[in-house]
Amino acid sequence: MTNHDLIATVNQHGYAVVPVPPTPDDPFDAHRRTAHELGLPDAYIPRLYRDPQVLKTVAQPGPYNEIPRADSPVPPWSEVPGQQFHVDGLLEPLGGIRTTFLHCLTQAHAGGATQLLLACDAFTDLEATDAAAALSLTHPQALTRVATIPGTAPERLRSTGPASGRVDGELATRYSDGTTEIWNTTDNPDLQRALAYLRGPALDTHLVDIVLAPGQMLVFRNDRVSHRGRPYRNGARPRRLTRSM
Ligand SMILES: [Fe+2]
Repeated sequence: MTNHDLIATVNQHGYAVVPVPPTPDDPFDAHRRTAHELGLPDAYIPRLYRDPQVLKTVAQPGPYNEIPRADSPVPPWSEVPGQQFHVDGLLEPLGGIRTTFLHCLTQAHAGGATQLLLACDAFTDLEATDAAAALSLTHPQALTRVATIPGTAPERLRSTGPASGRVDGELATRYSDGTTEIWNTTDNPDLQRALAYLRGPALDTHLVDIVLAPGQMLVFRNDRVSHRGRPYRNGARPRRLTRSM
C-alpha cells in the first residue's frame, strides 16, 4: 500500500529515516518493499554503470549495491575513508535521479555517518543574499563531473551542466565537490563566491548528520540534497550498507 505520510515527509524535508526490517538471505528486499510503498518504479542503473567500458571494471553492476562497491572481502577492523559531497548519478542531468535509499544491515564499529547537505535550501538562502552568485550556479557550464574509474577514458565519461536550477518547476541540485568535479570558476567571481558559501557558511545551517542503526533506511531526494559518507572503522563484522536509486 502506498505510504502517503512517508512520501509527504520525504518531500517536505528532503529525507526521512524509517525502520525497514531486513529480510534474511535477501539484503535488497527492503529496497523493493520501500520502493513499492513510495510508489516508485524499479531501481535504476545510472548511466555510468551502463557504460560497456565501466562494466568491465566495476563490481556489482546491477541496480542494488553494497556500499562501497567492494569486489573482495572487507577485512575486519579496517578503516574506510570518507567521501566528498555529491549527488548520485555522475553522468545524469540535473534532477536525473530523484531518490536514493541507503539501508543499514550492520553498523560500523566507529564513525560512518551519512551527511546530507540540503543544497536546494542553501541555494534559496544564497539567492536572497547574493543573487548573482546563486545565478552563476544555474549556468549550463557551471559544473563538470568526470568519472575517475581506473581503465576508463575520462574525456568520454563526463557531464557538464548547471549545479542548481529548476526542473519541471522545482528546484534541483547536482552540487558535488570532490576529485570528480571541475568548477568553471576561472574569471568567474560570482561562482567563486557561490562555492565559498557552499563550502563554508552553508554547512553551518544546512547540514544533517545521520547515523543509521541496523534495520533503518535513509530515504532522500537525491535531486534536492547532496550527501557524503563519513570515514569509519569496520568492526569484527564489517559495516554493511546497501543502496539503490
Ligand atoms: Fe552516493
